[in-house]
Amino acid sequence: MAKYKSDILELLYHNRSTYLSGQMIAEQLSISRTAVWKTIELLKQQGFSLSSVQNKGYQLTRFPEEWDQDMMALIIKQSSYFKKRFVYKEVTSTQLVAKEKMLETDEPFIVVSEVQTAGRGRFNRNWDSQGSKGLWMTAVFRKEVPLHKIMTFNLFMSLAIAKTIRRVSGAEAKIKWPNDIYIDDRKCCGFLTEISGDASAIQNIICGIGINLNHELSDFQDELAVKATSLMAATGQKINRYQFFEELLTEIEEAFQQFITLEFSDIKEEYMQYSNIWQRKLRYTEGKKVVEGTAVEMMDDGRLIVQDDEGTLHHFISADIEL
Ligand code: BTN
Repeated sequence: MAKYKSDILELLYHNRSTYLSGQMIAEQLSISRTAVWKTIELLKQQGFSLSSVQNKGYQLTRFPEEWDQDMMALIIKQSSYFKKRFVYKEVTSTQLVAKEKMLETDEPFIVVSEVQTAGRGRFNRNWDSQGSKGLWMTAVFRKEVPLHKIMTFNLFMSLAIAKTIRRVSGAEAKIKWPNDIYIDDRKCCGFLTEISGDASAIQNIICGIGINLNHELSDFQDELAVKATSLMAATGQKINRYQFFEELLTEIEEAFQQFITLEFSDIKEEYMQYSNIWQRKLRYTEGKKVVEGTAVEMMDDGRLIVQDDEGTLHHFISADIEL
């Protein structure tokens, strides 16, 4: 009955606030009641939970712990921008897979993996990517973007991610300039943006996003034990990863359109309100430049201005900031 899984899942997913009768599903899809029943059994075997009530029908109540290919396909199909998806149980890094897939297609696409065995963060740091706990994905945007504009891409994206986290979990997500997302001064999300193109313009933006969703604090080892958190650890509520993924996708698509059509100055005020670095004396490291000081302003191009104890102003394009 695997051949009806996707269609039945689609009906149940889009009507998940209510019950759908077996009769109604059978009529909608022009299949037999037995085929519906067998497919419902298959969904249950594959980790979906359904409530079934006599005379009312079926309601989708829970999703599998691991990413389900058909469910992810359904969610990504709703996107007006991303045309393809690649969903894996295990890869080295979605970022590496995305770069391979770019050779096969010119369309925008998404790569998601349950586990990454060699997840990478900024400054080539290791990125802890445990199964069933987070969202490890790469979004590949295809668009000619002038070189001068790319600096603000991370700013648009970080605002989109922070907004999604706030909306889905209720946690007070903050942005640590330029593109880390924190809750209660612990990191819950980071992303990595790589680009390719030619000397005049960028053609591809490869944005790898890692979000800790359902980790316990005890899942974080070594230095992460005091630095990392997850949405569940911060709120006490388990996050529905599918719902989170769906909302994030909508939000990053919108952020990408804004990035193309607007200037950073149009969202600067909102971005600054989400930021957790103001009125704090912090250490900023950019290459060999290390400054201890207080962030005082952002430029319209996204650069940060930090004032040190002597009153000297320092401009940063991107920096590692210790909270
Ligand atoms: C950072 O804060 O240092 C960036 C972390 C980016 C992690 C994500 S997880 C999905 C994608 N694949 C990777 O190997 N890295 C990014």
